[in-house]
Amino acid sequence: MIDTVVYGASELVVGPEESYADGAVVVQDGRVVAVGPTAEITREYPPENAVQHVDADGRAVLPGFVDAHTHGLFAGDRSDEFAAKLRGKTYQELLAEGGGILRTVRAVRSATDARLLGNLLGHLDTMLAHGTTTVEVKSGYGLDTATELRMLELIDAADARHPVDVVPTFMGAHAIPEDRDADEYTAAVVDEQLPAVEKQGIAAFCDVFCEEGVFSVEQSRRILEAGIAHGLTPKIHAEELTHLGGAELGAEVGAASADHLLHATDEDAARLAAADVTPVLLPGTAFSLGADYAAPERFTDAGATVAVASDFNPNCHSPSMGMAFALACVGMGMAPRDALDAVTRGGALALGRDDGTGTLAEGAPGDLVVLDAPSHVHVPYSFGVNRVATVVKDGVVVHDADGLASGEPR
Ligand code: NIG
Ligand code: FE
Repeated sequence: MIDTVVYGASELVVGPEESYADGAVVVQDGRVVAVGPTAEITREYPPENAVQHVDADGRAVLPGFVDAHTHGLFAGDRSDEFAAKLRGKTYQELLAEGGGILRTVRAVRSATDARLLGNLLGHLDTMLAHGTTTVEVKSGYGLDTATELRMLELIDAADARHPVDVVPTFMGAHAIPEDRDADEYTAAVVDEQLPAVEKQGIAAFCDVFCEEGVFSVEQSRRILEAGIAHGLTPKIHAEELTHLGGAELGAEVGAASADHLLHATDEDAARLAAADVTPVLLPGTAFSLGADYAAPERFTDAGATVAVASDFNPNCHSPSMGMAFALACVGMGMAPRDALDAVTRGGALALGRDDGTGTLAEGAPGDLVVLDAPSHVHVPYSFGVNRVATVVKDGVVVHDADGLASGEPR
């Protein structure tokens, strides 16, 4: 018996080059086994014979969103900083005063495991309801070995408990703790944290905030190279608030992604494309900081596939990929179809996934969303409104706001 058939989609998006009007998709053992026109697919795989079937009935079916950049595990409340920034305070001023990341570090260090895990699971519920089926979550609010390891353990625990696939990134180099200087703390990340993170065996990536007043290019290089030696693929927060050289470093160390890139140049874009580093653009951050958006065409002209992610964190407090999608279109000028590719396949590339994640091609994970609207354009068109009705993860209906699904998973 086949696991899941979704049929009758007014638009079924397989990937950037392929979609069907009146499409259907079949998932078996967590993977897409057939995709095409409804008439053809349902002849071979009658929906009533499947364990679960979803009559999309004129709604769009898209690959699940892949959110490749979040700091989704945190505690505390920084809404007052949002208000202060609207009055003209800058992100760097808040950090220099011990606010921003450092304030969340204090909140995380003093929070219980149960509180932290509960917070993350709650955010994952929201993400799932908004169509995210894979999300990267960074550590980096511990800034000491014990708390960084604790964060990774909780990220791993959330992954085990929640249908959303959670990808763990070690980001001990997220800020300089108040009692250390940058060189001292860089040495602590390299000599103490990274060996412990490797031994723990949870993290897949090592990320660093390469920024004026945070980690210099040289310090970032030391951390990312040590990360590679400890089995972690590099990622880098680059050219977010100033142009420092993080994108060039990302290309040199072969990072999976370089993220933010608000101040990147054409040369940076060419280097990233040549080194196959995925540019991850985070329009929600620019929106919430009132900053200028990154320029996607800089990277696409250089031949790169860009990703768009949420950057969900206490500074950019929206876990919605629909919102990121809308901002990619309205703020960064992306065509909806290109933005869709960036929030799905682009995100998967930034996470080093080459198994079809972010598409509905044969063999890809059976991760998809059914909208309550006839095409993907309605996601950015209805900015601020969640158009996701049903979510299927690994071929199992895990969210069904409108009751479109029939049958129970095995
Ligand atoms: O990606 N830039 C550094 N890190 C986060 C912000 C984290 C925070 O402010 O808590 C980012 O925007
Ligand atoms: Fe970030």
